Formats: sequence, structure tokens, C-alpha cells
Amino acid sequence: MAPEAKHDQLKPVQELLESGVVPEMYLQQLKDEHQVGDGPLPLMDGPIIDFSLLSSFNSEELSKLRSALSTWGCFQLVNHGMTSELLDEIRELSKEFFKLPLEEKEKYSSKGDSLEGYGNDNTIRQGNFNWNDKLHLQVHPEHRRQLEFWPEKPQEFRTTLHEYSNKTKEVSKTLFKAMSRSLKLDENRFFELWGDDKEDIIHARFNFYPRCPSANQVVGLKAHTDGSAITVLLQDKEIEGLQVLKDDQWFKVPIIPEAIIIHVGDQLEIASNGIFKSPVHKVVINPKCDRISLAMLPLPNPEKEIGPLKELITEDRPQMFKRLKDYGQIYFTYMASMERQINAVKINY
Ligand code: OGA
Ligand code: NI
Repeated sequence: MAPEAKHDQLKPVQELLESGVVPEMYLQQLKDEHQVGDGPLPLMDGPIIDFSLLSSFNSEELSKLRSALSTWGCFQLVNHGMTSELLDEIRELSKEFFKLPLEEKEKYSSKGDSLEGYGNDNTIRQGNFNWNDKLHLQVHPEHRRQLEFWPEKPQEFRTTLHEYSNKTKEVSKTLFKAMSRSLKLDENRFFELWGDDKEDIIHARFNFYPRCPSANQVVGLKAHTDGSAITVLLQDKEIEGLQVLKDDQWFKVPIIPEAIIIHVGDQLEIASNGIFKSPVHKVVINPKCDRISLAMLPLPNPEKEIGPLKELITEDRPQMFKRLKDYGQIYFTYMASMERQINAVKINY
């Protein structure tokens, strides 16, 4: 590949759009995808879960949670205590950031192979490229923030992200406890895998999906699972795009403006010994409108060993995954070659 061509493909996708030509690397080989004909896709009719009932460990809500996590692997969460104003503000700030001139955004560009920062991360993802730009920041623990990647414009960006991160942390903590309780485990079992109050890690990934005239030939994010423990996803309020795979069928995830979407990540699937499913999902592009989203990714400290909880290993359900450290490393190693990187740590009997 000519060096110029390479350089061109690594431009932010937003800039490619201006040239009016979609580089070949972004055109998807549709055979790679789980195509199911051309008809309109059904809407995900999975459960909507009430956070206020989960926090009081309401048994009906806990069984709804367990069923959602072991079938869809995701659900819409309402009454989570994050106000609609806060959700709208963070959506607005992220739109404003991506609207800034390129020179301004490039002050926060990723350097070398660092995960953090602004840009187009198709080099680490490999294979056909995603029609997606991102801003990736580690938000917890606070002493590990690399503020040089945190935008100073728009003005309220840092303070609002700080507030949103703290709320995400509270919500995640309660969710981990409810997830343990839903499996009749001591409430700290999943939470203690993820961290303690000083070292628990959360990454934030702001996604920007520019509109594309050839929308049906590109994909925002290819089919993937998340390598996190869980993902706390804030969707665009107006533009749909997220789809989840269940029983080999794609479903559109509907927009509920005040809800956040919770996904099981690979590391929770591992810890739950496969009871909770880390769902395959992807993002499609709109031909006329840009779309944003914000994925908050709580994940275990890479130095901590994780593996299926011993209470969840039984004669009927033998240990499905190896015990391991630093799943993130494994996830990126197999990113190009596997749709479900978790298969790399499966124990085959
Ligand atoms: C992700 C992701 C979904 C979306 O960031 O991993 O799947 O709706 N995002 O943008
Ligand atoms: Ni994802």
C-alpha cells in the first residue's frame, strides 16, 4: 500500500466525507456480516429495567435482570438517577466537540499506539475499516486521568464528564451488586472482581459516526462484543444505529431518550461462567445525519486475575473459561481474527 494511501485512510472519517469519495477499505464485505435478507429489521423487544427497583433488590426486577442478561445480554435501564438534563448535556458537549475544527480536535490526538485520545482507531482494529471517529479517555481512577487528552473546548466538557463518570460509577456498582444477587450470590462477588473504590477503572469512548451517502456500504462499528465488564451506553437521542444479534437475527435497538443501555461485556460473561451473554452488536450509518454515542466501560484492573466464580461452576455447568489477567490484551490481540475474542479463552472439553 502506498504511504499516501495509508495516510489518507487514517484521516478522521469526518474529514474523508468532505472529499466525497469513500476509500475502499471502508467498503464492507457484506458476506462477513450476519445478513438476513433485505426486509426491515425487527425492534429489540427486550426488557426495560427499573434501576430504583434493582437498588432495593426487588425480587421480580432481579429475575427480569437475570433473564435479560442471559438472553439478550443487554437491556434499557430507566430511573437510574441520571437526570435527562445531564444526559442531554453530555450528548450536546460531545456533538460540539466533534464539530470543532480539525486543528482544535487534533490537540487531543492519540499518540503512538495509545488507546486514549481523539482520532480514527482503524489501525488497531484492522480488517475492513469502521466509519467511526472516537475520543477515548480513561476517567477512573481519578489519579490515572491523562488530562492532556481531555478537551478544554467546549468549556463545560471536563466538569460534565467528571460528573457523568461519577454517576456511572455509582450506577455500575449497584448493577454489579444486583447482578450478583440475581444469581443468588453474595452481593459483592462481581463488584470485587471489578475493583475497589480506589482502583476501579472506567474508560469513556465518545463515538462519532458521520453521515455517509453510501451508508449501506459502510458500517459504523463492525459486529463485535465489548471487552469490558459491562458497558453503560448513552445513545444518540434522535438517530438510531445500534443493532444486537440474538439467535442469529439482528434487532434494532430502539431509542428511549431517558434510558441508558447496559451491555454485558466479555469479562462478565467469563466471571458468570457463561450464564450472562456478552452480545454481538454493530452500528449502522445514516445517509443524512451524523450520530453520536458515549460508551462507558468499567473493567477490571489488568493486574487482577479474573475467571468464572467458583459458586457458578457445577457438574452441569463445568468451568467454561480459563482464569486470566489483562483480558484487554487478549481482546486486542484477537481483534482482527475473531468476531468473539472470548473464544480464545474458552476451555474446550
Ligand atoms: C461501542 C459500541 C454502540 C453505539 O462503542 O463499543 O458498541 O451505539 N457503541 O455507538
Ligand atoms: Ni460495543
